[in-house]
Amino acid sequence: MSPAAHALAERLSCPLVERTGPFDPHRVRRDFPVLDQSVRGKPLVYLDNAATTQKPRDVLDVLEVFYEAANANVHRGVHHLSQIATDSYEGARNKVRQFLNAAHDREIIFTSGTTDSINLVAQTFGRRYVGAGDEILVTAMEHHSNIVPWQMLCEEKGAKLRVIPINDDGELRIDRLEPLLTERTRLVSVVHVSNVLGTLNPVASIVEKARERGIPVLLDGAQAVPHFKVDVQALGCDFYAFSGHKLYGPTGIGVLYGRSELLDSMPPYRGGGGMIREVSLEKTTYADPPARFEAGTPHIAGCIGLGAAIDYLNRIDLEAAAAYESDLFAYATDALSGISGLRIIGTAIERVSVISFVMDGVHPHDVGTIVDQQGVAVRAGHHCAQPVMRHFNIPATTRAATAFYNTREDIDTLVRALHTANEVFN
Ligand code: ALA
Repeated sequence: MSPAAHALAERLSCPLVERTGPFDPHRVRRDFPVLDQSVRGKPLVYLDNAATTQKPRDVLDVLEVFYEAANANVHRGVHHLSQIATDSYEGARNKVRQFLNAAHDREIIFTSGTTDSINLVAQTFGRRYVGAGDEILVTAMEHHSNIVPWQMLCEEKGAKLRVIPINDDGELRIDRLEPLLTERTRLVSVVHVSNVLGTLNPVASIVEKARERGIPVLLDGAQAVPHFKVDVQALGCDFYAFSGHKLYGPTGIGVLYGRSELLDSMPPYRGGGGMIREVSLEKTTYADPPARFEAGTPHIAGCIGLGAAIDYLNRIDLEAAAAYESDLFAYATDALSGISGLRIIGTAIERVSVISFVMDGVHPHDVGTIVDQQGVAVRAGHHCAQPVMRHFNIPATTRAATAFYNTREDIDTLVRALHTANEVFN
């Protein structure tokens, strides 16, 4: 590589620089330019992190460098820029592999997000291994993206969707798991952390029980990877899906981890360039994973940006951030519980960073609008989990979801804004 190419590749790969000293949310906040602004005349308090997280300067810089200085397609050219783009793209795959502690780079497939990752499994694994009378097992706390792709598959194949119920604390009825694991179960697909209830599910034990019976398990990790370290080999799962934009990376990029023995046996997802070994007008043979599942020009900048987000997380020390977040979550839960007429939806013992609630006499959308007047961003609605709403017999909740750049002052501002909502409506 020429010195110029080397310098460019370095800028794209965002080398690891250890940050010293204890975790400091105030210092970390300064890495996120978007947080430094006023909304409706008030300092922004961003608590909509389960919908999407903000991006650190490192990620923004890498995206700019890529498009300004290195833009080219990958795996398609021998020219200088194409080689840099390809190295950076494959470098990002390697960063994701290390991040998840997967065994091989080829087990990491780039998708457009968690939804796309789950659809990929439904459309390839499902097409090959699910038939009439078979069963797919999900839970009653899934996001629609871990329900609808399976319903579509079941409809097509004459298979059946079975469901592990939840209790009124928003915990899985784990006592119901074993009877639901039958000889017809072809896959178990479970959310790691609920996007509505914040429940941290006992996924290691679910995986163990399913795999004792030879049943593969997919974990939806969209709300897990931003908050704590995930090790797919220790979990023993067969598939793990997450989105880049919830992990401080760009939108439009996601990951599917798949155990190589399974991926090798699965047919392609989409057909097109990049996923073939050889094409004639009579017959096509397919590339090995991951290329087999990555037809067309990928979201190259998104992959490189995701790699930069992972570098950033390594730099701030995700474990220290997780400990800080857990403390902040306890503070927030306590503070919100003290507001009259407010009921937290989801009171599982093991919860992570998401607090959904309803308030007597105030619709969740009105709560969202009132707190927005104070510069506080929360989400209101059914959060793409209507079965959860139905379980609790409510149409919607307001949801505050923290990240490691939130502070106790953010929570105090939210609490004051909620008192205002109470005054206005009650
Ligand atoms: N799934 C994202 C959420 O829970 C969009 O808000």
